[in-house]
Amino acid sequence: MERTSEVEGTVRNILEEETLKWVFVGGKGGVGKTTCSSIISVLLSQVRSSVLIISTDPAHNLSDAFQQKFTHTPILVNGFTNLYAMEVDPVAEQENPSGSDGMEKWFSELAGAIPGIDEAMSFAEMLKLVQTLDYSVIVFDTAPTGHTLRLLQFPSVLEKGLAKMMSLKSKFGGLLNQMTRMFGMGDDFGDDAILGRLEGMKDVIEQVNQQFKDPDMTTFVCVCIPEFLSLYETERLVQQLAKFEIDTHNIIINQVIHDEEDVESKLLQARMKMQQKYLNQFYELYDDFHITKLPLLPEEVTGVEALKAFSKHFKTPYQPSCSTDPEERLERRVLGLKQQLSEAEEQLAIIRKEKA
Ligand SMILES: Nc1ncnc2c1ncn2[C@@H]1O[C@H](COP(=O)(O)OP(=O)(O)OP(=O)(O)O)[C@@H](O)[C@H]1O
Ligand SMILES: [Mg+2]
Repeated sequence: MERTSEVEGTVRNILEEETLKWVFVGGKGGVGKTTCSSIISVLLSQVRSSVLIISTDPAHNLSDAFQQKFTHTPILVNGFTNLYAMEVDPVAEQENPSGSDGMEKWFSELAGAIPGIDEAMSFAEMLKLVQTLDYSVIVFDTAPTGHTLRLLQFPSVLEKGLAKMMSLKSKFGGLLNQMTRMFGMGDDFGDDAILGRLEGMKDVIEQVNQQFKDPDMTTFVCVCIPEFLSLYETERLVQQLAKFEIDTHNIIINQVIHDEEDVESKLLQARMKMQQKYLNQFYELYDDFHITKLPLLPEEVTGVEALKAFSKHFKTPYQPSCSTDPEERLERRVLGLKQQLSEAEEQLAIIRKEKA
């Protein structure tokens, strides 16, 4: 995908890339993945025909962000005509589309033999469903980093599963089939059926995997905060994505404390200084990325209105109010100090009254 310096500081490049089909949003726990993926999906719904946002985090919070209950099938988000949301749990047992308990039993046994196969299978089934629903673009609100990286490895896990099944088949011949018949499961649940299902999945996997590796169709947005651990984790994520050949060139740095004139607190000033150190490192390390900075708000970002209001920082770089007229700045500072003084006097008066 083209990297243009004019759009730096925003996620406009993602909104303008008409061929994008899959947008992953990931990062460390609690940094703002759900908030950012929700806002990106809202912004995409303004420029694309239909958008689906999927949460693959077992601790779903799309419902919190949009203040609406979602399930494992796509539901229209209130207030939109083309934005849908669903929450899937890749680890939990999914409903089997063929409705067969016997098959599930074989799969859970297989899952025991090949770690990660159950997760990979349910992710693949979800992707298969999503593919048929024909959304213009799909946004993923992913679980914290480790989990997401596992999901991106699912094609190789499935291939290993398939290879293992093949070798079992050649070793035991028709034994598996005989056993399934013995237990009254019939031909439908024999090893051929399982192989067929795995192979059917493999086609979806191969197709999706190809799309995931195509930078015109897929990109990964890294969300982080300006702190050491988050910088470290972002670098790890970026390296892993490079290994999986998944495009990434957007970083969102959330919870930035800006140099506003009303930052009188010593603690906030110290945090601001620390943040600045890591912000500089982010800019040095990722000079070819679009880096979007988001201000730390005094309140949570929940509900469609709050998401929409916060979305302006995704399209226009944030301007702290300290860049205004110096007289106005000093006036505001005097006002702030006066307020602090009166608050301190009030508290002192209360304490003195209690003592008396
Ligand atoms: N810039 C911000 N200022 C203030 N609050 C924020 C900001 N960004 C996010 N929040 C709030 O912080 C909380 C965590 O954000 P969010 O749920 O988006 O993080 P997450 O990375 O998805 O977390 P998890 O790893 O638990 O899924 C939410 O309550 C959200 O409203
Ligand atoms: Mg979340």
